[in-house]
Amino acid sequence: MGSHCNGNAVLFLSSILVLLGLFVWMRQRKQGFFYGRYRLESSSDTWVQIPGKVAWIIQELPSFVVPALLIYQSGSLDTLGSKLLLFLFCGHYFHRTWIYGYFTRGGSVHISFVLQSILFCTWNGYLQGHNLIYCTSYDDSWTTDFRFLFGILLFLMGMAANIHSDNLLRKLREPGDLSYKIPRGGLFEYISAANYFGEIVEWFGYSLATWTYPAFAFALFTALCLGSRAVLHHRFYQQMFQEYPKSRKALIPLLF
Ligand SMILES: NC(=O)c1ccc[n+]([C@@H]2O[C@H](COP(=O)([O-])OP(=O)(O)OC[C@H]3O[C@@H](n4cnc5c(N)ncnc54)[C@H](OP(=O)(O)O)[C@@H]3O)[C@@H](O)[C@H]2O)c1
Repeated sequence: MGSHCNGNAVLFLSSILVLLGLFVWMRQRKQGFFYGRYRLESSSDTWVQIPGKVAWIIQELPSFVVPALLIYQSGSLDTLGSKLLLFLFCGHYFHRTWIYGYFTRGGSVHISFVLQSILFCTWNGYLQGHNLIYCTSYDDSWTTDFRFLFGILLFLMGMAANIHSDNLLRKLREPGDLSYKIPRGGLFEYISAANYFGEIVEWFGYSLATWTYPAFAFALFTALCLGSRAVLHHRFYQQMFQEYPKSRKALIPLLF
């Protein structure tokens, strides 16, 4: 561990992330978080609804900017940790912020959710960034270690599945349309939440490749948050569409 590493803070913030994941999972078992199809519909608070494109760009931006600033502040891209951070973590959030955010055809998002997301993305961006830059070092042999290679493979496959599935969802709508249709194609033939499955695989791959507690905590958070939301989406489709494919599972092909 380097002299700048705040190991106690890393341990504390990572553990809180796991607890937050459990809290979200318990809460979402009944009601999805207030965006997307579970958004707050009260007409009296339309002034606090932020257009989807703007919301996704500003709420996800800290996950890209905070680690990028930490890399800049550290003044070095020499370590494997900072390279992993830049190319995997920042790469994901560059896409999520600028490309997903710009092209989304999703509806507006309540300001309270946007503010919570900004806080979360700042916290997680700092946690992952600080940990990989200041608290983690790798031997030269790590780049040929099975965990690293398999983790990178999982990350890339998960990211591809996530982006492909999000694109299939986007194409279900014309601009301005906010209705829901049955997703078809790709992994959607097997599961209702193909984009979530991709995202979960991605972050478990990242935690394997980095082999750090904060990355594992974030993967766990993602699985708890998106897993419970996947169950709600699945139920939503089954209730909304009588012709919804019976063999389709919620999150894990053929299993669940
Ligand atoms: N790492 C994490 O913990 C985490 C947490 C949350 C989200 N994410 C990621 O962020 C991305 C977006 O998440 P999300 O929760 O908004 O995903 P989502 O509920 O699947 O929605 C994705 C987009 O597709 C639209 N859509 C969904 N189902 C549709 C359907 N049947 N017909 C037509 N349009 C449909 C949604 O519109 P509406 O918005 O109008 O519903 C939204 O614009 C995903 O890639 C997800 O993996 C990651």
